[in-house]
Amino acid sequence: MSSTEKRGGFGGKLAAILAAAGSAIGLGNIWRFPYITSENGGGAFILIYLGCILLLGLPLLIAEFAVGHNTKRNPIDAFSTIRKGWGWLGAMGIFSVTLIMGYYFVISGWTLNYAISSATNAITGDYGAFFCDFTTAVWKPLLFTYLFILANHFIIIGGVQGGIEKASKVMMPLLFVILIVLAIYSLWLPEGREALGNVFTPDFSKVTGKTFLDAMGQAFFTLSVGMGAMLIYGSYFKDGTKIAGTAISVVSLDTIVALTAAVIIFSAGVADQSGMQLAFVAMPKVFSSMPLGNLWATLFFLLLGLAALSSTISMHEAVTSYFVEKRGMSRGVGAAIVTVVAMLLATGASLSLGAWDSYRVAGMNFFSLLDNFTAIVMLPVLGILTSIFVGWVWKKEDMRKELTAEGGVDAATYPVIRFLLRYVCPVLVSVVFVCGIVAFIRGL
Ligand code: PFF
Repeated sequence: MSSTEKRGGFGGKLAAILAAAGSAIGLGNIWRFPYITSENGGGAFILIYLGCILLLGLPLLIAEFAVGHNTKRNPIDAFSTIRKGWGWLGAMGIFSVTLIMGYYFVISGWTLNYAISSATNAITGDYGAFFCDFTTAVWKPLLFTYLFILANHFIIIGGVQGGIEKASKVMMPLLFVILIVLAIYSLWLPEGREALGNVFTPDFSKVTGKTFLDAMGQAFFTLSVGMGAMLIYGSYFKDGTKIAGTAISVVSLDTIVALTAAVIIFSAGVADQSGMQLAFVAMPKVFSSMPLGNLWATLFFLLLGLAALSSTISMHEAVTSYFVEKRGMSRGVGAAIVTVVAMLLATGASLSLGAWDSYRVAGMNFFSLLDNFTAIVMLPVLGILTSIFVGWVWKKEDMRKELTAEGGVDAATYPVIRFLLRYVCPVLVSVVFVCGIVAFIRGL
């Protein structure tokens, strides 16, 4: 039997939606979206962001699902099956997602420590100092990061249905319940409702070129597009799964979670804190002054951890599938290689915040380098190339058949998606990408 014949798949439509929504919903929604929104003028940013999601993110997600579902192969073979010589595009995605794992796992590990420390009331005193002491230490953050990577490893070796699907079916409902409980609690606080009104009111005076850049970067990151993760999940969709419908469900869930997370964080009145400070310093401080504060803090970090785990398994799977299908390894060996590589990169990223902070490239430590390089360079480049591939390189008739199969996209919607992929995505993303690079270089 060839490796494609024995490859796994999701059991049904719900599983496909939950797993893909799991990939999309992550640290990007709960931790990154709220502070980027507040930095960029609240409601005004949200409008631009929603525009990017609809015009760029959704068509790209549909494109990626379609390439995966059509070929039922790992990211490299998927592209080269559709057009010989294009496997490098899948390889670029795999390379990028590997780099993302390097720093994403470190933050994921922190959520584990914070959930445990909140439950045991161990975060006391100066929250900034607690965060700094913990993240710049050598062993403790590494230990939690490794534990998190191992959790991924065991889910991945469980297989597509026995591991990823099962985990998603447990984690995603739990994540939604925690999110709803926290949102109700936030809105129940009067100061929460007030803060909410202020932040969601659009402030167009804060909109600049960078707002568009941030909105697009956030849209791509949150939908996990371009990096093979959504492609590999698309390749596991059962025949008869509606590509566009699944993408719309994923985008809707992802957007609802991002907006709800913003409500929770704005209600806590800490939306002006950016970066790591927001989730790991400001939020614990707010929780500490609330009745049952430990409970809310524990729930918040569990939420963050679950979201991170459902995203990291899609990253791990994208790379594992390469070793299994392209290199002919067993799932156990393929996953072990990914786990070890992730541990090595994460070790470098974690230590670069403390002991190895003096090793810098262009002023950035290894952690920021991984983050900036993937967000500013790789994500837009992959977005441009994927849209060109699907819009221009893939045979028109084959793409139409894939998208409209089994009543997936109706005849009226299909030309719109094709138009967005052929013209709007490559042009808009290129403009924003060039502006982003210029702004970044100027800021160095
Ligand atoms: N979409 C995830 C988030 O918002 O946190 C991040 C992500 C997952 C990026 C999977 C890339 C990926 F392949």
